Amino acid sequence: MHVLITGASRGLGREFAYLHAKQGDHVLLVGRDATALFETKFHVERLGGTATVFPYDLTQPTHRLALFRATEQIPVDCVINNAGIGVFGSFLETSFEDESRMIALNIEALTHVTKVYASRMKAQGIKGRIVHLASTAAFEGGPWLSVYYATKAYVLHFSEGLTEELAQDGIQVSVVCPGATHTGFESAANLEQSRLFLRPGVMDAPTVARIAYRGYMKGKTFIVPGFGNAWYIFSTRFLPRRYVTRQAGEVQRPR
Ligand SMILES: NC(=O)c1ccc[n+]([C@@H]2O[C@H](COP(=O)([O-])OP(=O)(O)OC[C@H]3O[C@@H](n4cnc5c(N)ncnc54)[C@H](OP(=O)(O)O)[C@@H]3O)[C@@H](O)[C@H]2O)c1
Repeated sequence: MHVLITGASRGLGREFAYLHAKQGDHVLLVGRDATALFETKFHVERLGGTATVFPYDLTQPTHRLALFRATEQIPVDCVINNAGIGVFGSFLETSFEDESRMIALNIEALTHVTKVYASRMKAQGIKGRIVHLASTAAFEGGPWLSVYYATKAYVLHFSEGLTEELAQDGIQVSVVCPGATHTGFESAANLEQSRLFLRPGVMDAPTVARIAYRGYMKGKTFIVPGFGNAWYIFSTRFLPRRYVTRQAGEVQRPR
């Protein structure tokens, strides 16, 4: 299997690469940090897979086009749209440039990558898989991470719509909704100043990736790693939206 993974230089993306490597798959590793991607490649090969590194910044349309061109001859049959960032802080104090970059990565790049590879799958008759990383954040407003939460709501709704559309072509779409997970995400998003990652129940990246992997390989469309996260999402259906948002704000408020 040829598996393209965005954000494979660390965190969940790297774990997905290792899981596919154990099956002898060829993984296409995308991210900006070439050194870290080559580290992932080194471990992938030790685990029995093969890997190619594509050091591209997915927020840049020209880099995306370069990626699409460089992979033209590879019959990609699984795409894991995992790269994503958060911007933490008061909306009136965060920089629009950072938020714009987040929207470009979490929404625009994810949509573009999916359009190109799903179209190729259809044209080549590949019954492939598209996997999107959303979050438990997709189900509520998230004070101090308001734009991030909104990007994940986009990912969830976009994936759910596509599930029906692409099923006609035999392409499986899965959306993964992890809760807080220890990766590089919390420091990249400056989240050490919030209580979000200090609460009990924060999961580790290998466990989250393993649950997600099992789910999408079985063809599940909606995957929530961890009982606590699944219960939380379920419970928000029965609570007033304003209350749920306020609770999220209590947990995330900068210390
Ligand atoms: N960790 C959590 O608590 C959590 C919870 C729910 C959902 N998620 C979602 O899960 C996904 C993976 O997150 P993670 O926790 O593994 O985060 P992470 O450890 O911070 O890794 C993020 C990955 O995205 C890549 N990336 C960032 N900017 C990029 C860009 N401009 N172009 C290409 N790649 C870029 C990074 O690589 P480079 O720096 O090399 O570019 C890195 O490999 C994200 O979509 C995130 O929103 C995470």
